[in-house]
Amino acid sequence: MRKIGINQRKIAFFTGGIMLNDDIEKVLITEAEIKYKVHELGEIISSDYEGKDLVLVSVLRGGVVFVADLMRSISIPLTIDFMAISSYGPSTETSGVVKVLKDLEENIYNRHVVVVEDIIDTGLTLGYLLRNLESRKPASINICVLLNKPARRIVDLPIKYKGFDVPDLFVVGYGLDYQQNYRHLPYVGILKKEVYEI
Ligand code: IMP
Ligand code: MG
Repeated sequence: MRKIGINQRKIAFFTGGIMLNDDIEKVLITEAEIKYKVHELGEIISSDYEGKDLVLVSVLRGGVVFVADLMRSISIPLTIDFMAISSYGPSTETSGVVKVLKDLEENIYNRHVVVVEDIIDTGLTLGYLLRNLESRKPASINICVLLNKPARRIVDLPIKYKGFDVPDLFVVGYGLDYQQNYRHLPYVGILKKEVYEI
């Protein structure tokens, strides 16, 4: 137990003095690693979409933190828009049943769309979303995802821009929630077992 205390102080140092949330067992990706990667993705997207009409489509609510940082790392003109879709229920499992709660305000016909998502797990959510967006005939559509969890993939998706691969664990932070909490953490981590068990 004493060892965990020491690690927590070290992590607090590397996360810019922010103490580790009490419910976090372990940090998988630090704030500094995320910053570096997001910047890198922003530069690649800026170069790939130079001279094109770029629309970033972010998926509420998990994609918000990622897209807010990513858009500021992109140096070419862009439009941002949001969609909200539900994967039913508060559990940690995706049901595969997807409902559009909020649609785009932009018309994406003949424009270059990058869908910005927090995580791809089974791929069911994004698979649905891609089919929905493709029916509006954008000039192109690509995926930019912060976290890829390949272990449980059901729908195979072409991921053009990827932050990190993560193991088959339920992760929180940097937009990702457990029962709507922990989205504000600046790092990606895993929760202590007792948090689920309560
Ligand atoms: P998929 O449809 O299984 O690919 O899951 C997509 C959605 O499930 C994501 O946009 C998240 O909202 C949620 N999700 C999947 N894995 C995790 C996780 O490890 N932590 C938090 N949310 C997750
Ligand atoms: Mg979610």
